[in-house]
Amino acid sequence: MPGPLDVFRDNALAGHVALITGGGTGICRGIAAAYARLGADVCIVSRKQDVLDIAAKELSAQTGRTVIGIAADVRDPEAITRAIAATVERFGKLDTLVNGAAGNFLAPAAALSPNGFKTVIDIDLNGTFNASRAAFEHLSKTGDSLILNISATLHYHGTPLQVHASAAKAGVDAVTKNLAVEWGRFKIRVCGIAPGPIAETEGMKRLAPGELTDKMTAGIPAARFGTIDEIAAAAVYLRSPAAAYVTGHVLVVDGGHCVATPALGMSFS
Ligand code: COA
Repeated sequence: MPGPLDVFRDNALAGHVALITGGGTGICRGIAAAYARLGADVCIVSRKQDVLDIAAKELSAQTGRTVIGIAADVRDPEAITRAIAATVERFGKLDTLVNGAAGNFLAPAAALSPNGFKTVIDIDLNGTFNASRAAFEHLSKTGDSLILNISATLHYHGTPLQVHASAAKAGVDAVTKNLAVEWGRFKIRVCGIAPGPIAETEGMKRLAPGELTDKMTAGIPAARFGTIDEIAAAAVYLRSPAAAYVTGHVLVVDGGHCVATPALGMSFS
């Protein structure tokens, strides 16, 4: 059985340059790996240079492409602007921006401090805007650009202990639609991916620790968590010419989780 990334042609992304915030770990590291494997040069951005250095070295060794890491906090518009400029300086252009930097934790709304709420909005939502705004000038020169925003399905329903992240990701999806409308004429497509429960991610370790895994799996029609490569494959599709007419769309990749009504204990076959 081929893996999710095996269906793509070798060098499908040759000549591409991508900058991926949150690319040092988890899902966005998987997207960085997939893009580089298919021939792209990649800059990964997060707050910690030591994490980036290790990831960039490993990804370069695995893929044979140039992968660099530049530390910047997406909450700081000047820092992310500098990181984007340095990427363009190094690689000559920017084709794709993936906004994946995110912060999250479980917290009851009544106990969440205003600063806790603001912190997650600042990272996820404001960070997405800051990076997109800073990348616009470069992306608009390329003639075939993509901004890919990683959101979630939390805000499709009310999700307990997640008022901050749900509000932030709802905002991210709004940014996706609005920028798609405004920047289409600059040949910039703006899409999103809304991952469901994905195995071996920091998010799932924190949000669904071991004992909750079986309970959560029972609510997923696919009867399993997704894999990082399955999200990366969606990111490759959205970057590819196959998606040239797709913009303003958020692709849900969740094994059917968000469309399933809780089965109310009923069993069926
Ligand atoms: N529960 C409740 N509030 C929390 C919290 C938690 N687990 N973690 C942080 N906060 C609150 C803090 O109390 C603080 O508010 P206060 O000043 O009113 O006390 C505010 O959020 C900022 O926290 P701080 O740790 O100073 O912010 P930071 O910028 O260093 O880091 C996060 C914020 C969200 C990135 C941090 O929680 C974190 O490191 N998370 C783990 C990594 C992660 O989220 N990965 C992505 C998973 S999807």
